[in-house]
Parts: sequence; structure tokens; C-alpha cells
Amino acid sequence: MAKTIIFGNQKGGCGKSTDTINVSAQLSKRGYKVLMVDSDPQASLTIISGLVPEDYEGQNLASLLYDTDGALDIHKCIVPLNEDGTLSILPTDITMANGDLEFVSRPGNDRLIKNILKKIDKEYDYICIDCLPSLGIISINDIAASDYIIGCVEPGYQALKGLEYYCKVISRAISLYEYDTKFFGIIITKIARNNDSKDITELLENEYNVLAEIPNSVEVTKGEIDGIPVSIRKPAHISSLEYSKVADAIIAETTNN
Ligand SMILES: Nc1ncnc2c1ncn2[C@@H]1O[C@H](COP(=O)(O)OP(=O)(O)OP(=O)(O)O)[C@@H](O)[C@H]1O
Ligand SMILES: [Mg+2]
Repeated sequence: MAKTIIFGNQKGGCGKSTDTINVSAQLSKRGYKVLMVDSDPQASLTIISGLVPEDYEGQNLASLLYDTDGALDIHKCIVPLNEDGTLSILPTDITMANGDLEFVSRPGNDRLIKNILKKIDKEYDYICIDCLPSLGIISINDIAASDYIIGCVEPGYQALKGLEYYCKVISRAISLYEYDTKFFGIIITKIARNNDSKDITELLENEYNVLAEIPNSVEVTKGEIDGIPVSIRKPAHISSLEYSKVADAIIAETTNN
């Protein structure tokens, strides 16, 4: 059964989508079968995977969430991204933006995504979910669906506060709803070469299990444009080596548990 990892933080722009695609690429490079899930109505993960969200209207995570009678086959919604079939994506589109209104009144409204993914979790080794920057019903669904949570953070004061709050909400959700998930660690991204960045990185190292430290680099941003993450385009780049460490940590943790 697949292990599900979510990449989250309610703060925007702190590298969640970039971390999701790079860690997924690293896991798939090792031969594991990985499904990426785009749970953000902005569809950034869908776009940086080289897809046009509109092309998958009616056949994506949003459609599955609206498909209350279960008529839509999830297999029809999954798009393979490489030839050996180790990396695929369940895309989404903007219609999920209504989620808080549409899904809140449903019974079991926190486990809608978990129940969708249950149908295919025997077909994958890892499911990596890109979360949206909010703490609404979709984010709670992501937490409920996860075995592991990875916090994504930039070394800035606001991001630090955002991460503290995110962790508080996760602990509360776990104790209130008894989710069987674990906060695994953090990825610090866009680390600049200045003292502020260095100081906050040190603070984070003291407080959290830091899985990787990714420098601020144009090589990482380029992946957004050509749909090929740095982990594939430049495997020897420092960012790729750091993302590789995250994949190793995930494999070490999940092989024993
Ligand atoms: N290490 C890095 N160096 C430079 N730019 C980066 C790096 N990591 C991510 N970026 C860029 O920062 C921007 C935000 O990254 P990303 O979209 O991954 O964040 P996010 O947390 O998913 O954002 P959102 O909250 O909107 O979903 C993107 O333009 C991305 O290319
Ligand atoms: Mg994103």
C-alpha cells in the first residue's frame, strides 16, 4: 500500500509545489512508482508538470470530488509523466476553489480525498500531495489522507511564524480527529546568501528535523518553465542533491514502518 506524503504550509510561495515535484522525481528515479496529486485549485503542480489544466477538465481531482455517485473512474484521471511509468499525476483545476462551500456539508467531509485515493493506493509506492496555501477543508482533507507531513518553509520571519502555526493546527487536528499521520520534517527552500537567511535557517535547524536545505537558485525556477524539475535536468546540482536526501529519508522511514 502506498505511503502518502503531503507537502504543506498555509503560507503561500514557500516552495510546496517545487518540493513536491522534485521529491517525487527523486523517488521515481529510484524505481518507485509515484503518484503526484495536485490538491491546489491554482493547479501549479499540474502546470509545472508540463500540463495545461483545461485539457483535463472533467477528468481530474476536482471532478472526482464533485462526482458524488462515484461514476468517474480515477484511472481515467491519472496522467503518466514518464516512459517507465514511475511518475504520474492526478491533476486539478480552478473548480476546486469552491471546496470550502461545496464539500463542507458532506458527511465525512474531511476524508473525501483519502477515500478517492484509497481506490488506487495499492498501485503505487508513494503518493505525494501538493497542498494549497490555506487551512480550509481541502487542507484538512490532505492531512487526513497523509501518513507523513513535510513542512515547506522559506527562511523568513513570517514563514517561521507560519510554520509554527501550521504545526499547531496539525497537532490539534491529529488529537481531535485521531488522524494516523506524523510530522516528518521540513524542507527549507530559497535560502539566500545573507545573514538573515543564515540566522533563520539556524533557528529552524534547532527546532525541526531539517530534511533538506535548498539554495535560492535560478536552476530550480527553470523547472517551472520547461516542466522538467531540477532533479531531472541537473542531477548533480546542489538542489538536486538536497532533494535526493529527502527521498532517502522517506525511503529509510517507510521501509521500516
Ligand atoms: N530553491 C528555489 N530557488 C529559487 N526559486 C524557487 C526555489 N524554489 C521555488 N522557487 C520559486 O518560488 C516560487 C514559489 O514556489 P512554489 O510555487 O513551489 O511555492 P508554493 O508554496 O507551492 O506556492 P503556493 O503557495 O502559491 O502554492 C516559484 O516561482 C518557484 O519557481
Ligand atoms: Mg503551490
